[in-house]
Amino acid sequence: MSTQATDTATKERPELAARTRVLRQAAQSAVDYLEGLDSRSVAPGSESVAALRALSGPLPDSTTDPAEVIRLLSEIGGPATMGISSGRFFGFVIGGCLPAAMAASWLVNTWDQNAGLWVASPVAANLEDAAVEWTRELLGLPEGTVGGVVTGATIANFTALAAARHHLLERAGWDVEADGLFGAPELRVVVGDEAHPSLLKSLAMLGLGKKRVVRVPVDKQGRMRADALPHLDERTILCLQAGNVNTGAFDPAGAICPAARAAGAWIHVDGAFGLWAAASPKYRQLVHGFELADSWATDAHKWPNLGYDCGLALVRDGAALRAAMSLRAAYLERGERREPADYTPELSRRARGIELWAGLRQLGKAGMAEIVERTCSHAQRFAAGLKAAGYEVLNEVVLNQVLVSFGDADETTRVISRLQAEGTCWCGPTVWQGKAAMRISVSSWVTSEDDVEQSLAAMLKSASGSSH
Ligand SMILES: Cc1ncc(COP(=O)(O)O)c(C=O)c1O
Repeated sequence: MSTQATDTATKERPELAARTRVLRQAAQSAVDYLEGLDSRSVAPGSESVAALRALSGPLPDSTTDPAEVIRLLSEIGGPATMGISSGRFFGFVIGGCLPAAMAASWLVNTWDQNAGLWVASPVAANLEDAAVEWTRELLGLPEGTVGGVVTGATIANFTALAAARHHLLERAGWDVEADGLFGAPELRVVVGDEAHPSLLKSLAMLGLGKKRVVRVPVDKQGRMRADALPHLDERTILCLQAGNVNTGAFDPAGAICPAARAAGAWIHVDGAFGLWAAASPKYRQLVHGFELADSWATDAHKWPNLGYDCGLALVRDGAALRAAMSLRAAYLERGERREPADYTPELSRRARGIELWAGLRQLGKAGMAEIVERTCSHAQRFAAGLKAAGYEVLNEVVLNQVLVSFGDADETTRVISRLQAEGTCWCGPTVWQGKAAMRISVSSWVTSEDDVEQSLAAMLKSASGSSH
């Protein structure tokens, strides 16, 4: 429709006028925001954060013009954002947002689709189905693996482990969905000592307990020691990790999985970001053996650079996942097709599968491989630059994560604070096997060589400006 035709339509339809006006305003604000990213500090200034007070307080009695709401958000909210969309944010494991995924998100919100049921949104159901299959293929997982699109790796771990719990207890003659865990045959859960806390949280939510897990010792990179595995059997859930959040290291799946499968254990993989290494011919060998698992949790909002939030739970045995997740009601019309709500904890949910489809469609196989390779090579450059300046890099930089120590814990903390305040880039702290470190996680499609050089210079300046 031309602008003129839209103007005529909006005159006759005030509700349409209200929506188009505010969408155009938001689009302009979003563009202004992106344009301003290079000239602002990556972390928001303390004045901008303090100004957020203006957005709190009591809910007004009267209505507010939507345009005024968006103005408040962009003028007061925007400056208090963390500059995650810039190329110089290296905190946690956070990607940027690909243009196609970002714009698809606007469309999805405009369409206001409920992705829970096929009948409620054929487009959401179909595109989610396609995007899950593309993900399976990119990650090199077995054909026939099914999956659900959830908020992130925490819920993906939860969802996949619910399928594991169902499968092992069903085999033991117990219906856990019907009868719960009281009086159920005992399951044993084995995790690496470096398991991500979100995996333990998922186990807690499933009634499997955080503390009663068997923890396997790890090596200096945080990899599970294959020689220290306990006895595994058909009542065991073995949780492996593909990509440690600090070091980027992978558990030795090739050495562990064949015997674990033969013992009848269910193998689950927390591969929040590391599994995506499978997309690159150069890094694919790191995920060798993980394809032998029974379930996998991963995030699209990390390395594939989808916007928040988007994770996937993938399960080899579709019947186990459906048994753990599906629900029935007379008013929820079902067909013969894949019903999205059979694969996730939620019934109603946003159509993030459409955004996943858009992001992967933009990237294709080559684009995903390129993000993996480019960000890993940026990580190498950070490590080399810091080492050359005399600082200790604590991990083998096998992926996109770098851990650097600037001296003792106080010194390292001071350097991180100074770097965050200086504003060129943003990195956060961690403690790796007892030693304080700064984490550099290179995950964004936006990060250029220039971003890396500017950030490295800022790191070295912050480090040399410390007390000695
Ligand atoms: C290995 C691992 N598992 C799970 C998570 C949790 O992911 P999310 O924040 O998407 O729930 C993370 C987050 O960094 C992670 O690195």
